[in-house]
Amino acid sequence: MYSLHSWLRYAVFAIGLAALGYALWGQLGGRDYRKRMWDLASAFTFSIYFQVIIGFFLIFETTNRFFDKTLGLHMVLSMAAGAIAQLTYSVNRRRPREERRYTVHIWGVGLALALVVAGILAIRSSVFS
Ligand code: HEM
Repeated sequence: MYSLHSWLRYAVFAIGLAALGYALWGQLGGRDYRKRMWDLASAFTFSIYFQVIIGFFLIFETTNRFFDKTLGLHMVLSMAAGAIAQLTYSVNRRRPREERRYTVHIWGVGLALALVVAGILAIRSSVFS
């Protein structure tokens, strides 16, 4: 479970950067809102939720874990990332198709990615360690 949680960070990064890149490409190119943006944003949200579920398994699976402030911060920042990603995705979902905007995802995915990185840096010296 530990190594799955550890390696899944790269899936969160990869999908998040793909969603952010696509939103910037769409916005800066003045392109119409496309379903692919939708799919990338929902995949990113799902990847964070999956990490959160694994994270809770990790907490309860490892009984001798010393629960310190840094782990608490890791959890709170990661779950805030999930909430932001979900919120911005839902905001666009409620809009009629012609009113959907890439900017919502630029802010939502961008902020969620920053929170994920901050969450990892709360417990590790780098996002890759
Ligand atoms: C976006 C969501 C998350 C990401 C990307 C993420 C990523 C990581 C990474 C990269 C590590 C370090 C693994 C290593 O050293 O190899 C880690 C450790 C850990 N994570 Fe998460 N995590 C997330 C959410 C959560 C949540 C929500 C929880 C708890 C509910 C959690 C619980 C843990 C625990 C218990 C550890 C081990 C800490 C330690 O041994 O010091 N994670 N996580």
